[in-house]
Amino acid sequence: MNLLNNAFDAISKQSQKWIKIEVLDLGSVVKILVTDSSGGIAPEIGKKSMNPFFTTKGVGHGTGLGLSISKGIVEAHKGRLYLDTAAADTQFVMEIPKSHQADKAVA
Ligand SMILES: Nc1ncnc2c1ncn2[C@@H]1O[C@H](COP(=O)(O)OP(=O)(O)OP(=O)(O)O)[C@@H](O)[C@H]1O
Ligand SMILES: [Mg+2]
Repeated sequence: MNLLNNAFDAISKQSQKWIKIEVLDLGSVVKILVTDSSGGIAPEIGKKSMNPFFTTKGVGHGTGLGLSISKGIVEAHKGRLYLDTAAADTQFVMEIPKSHQADKAVA
């Protein structure tokens, strides 16, 4: 939900508005990609985006906790949450093993 809310906020001022959700079955791991049309995140913001309380949203609009909490939840499931800086558009990726026996698949 936080990835979708972030994408929604990011595209709100764009003339081209879209959000793409992809789910890929990689065998032992499920990869979920949330991509939006905001055209990428500036590197200095991308680097800090997962930090607790980091937000570029105004007072009353964001706590800056969404991504750090999301990352914690995904990691509690032995997965990874990251910004794919190689993607042309803004793309956050979740990788979650189907079972905890698959830990090594996301190492
Ligand atoms: N899809 C995105 N496009 C552009 N910037 C993003 C995107 N997702 C996250 N960010 C940047 O990362 C920051 C941190 O995101 P995070 O979800 O942790 O907090 P938030 O959205 O600001 O607040 P909250 O989640 O509490 O509403 C955002 O304020 C924004 O600057
Ligand atoms: Mg958020």
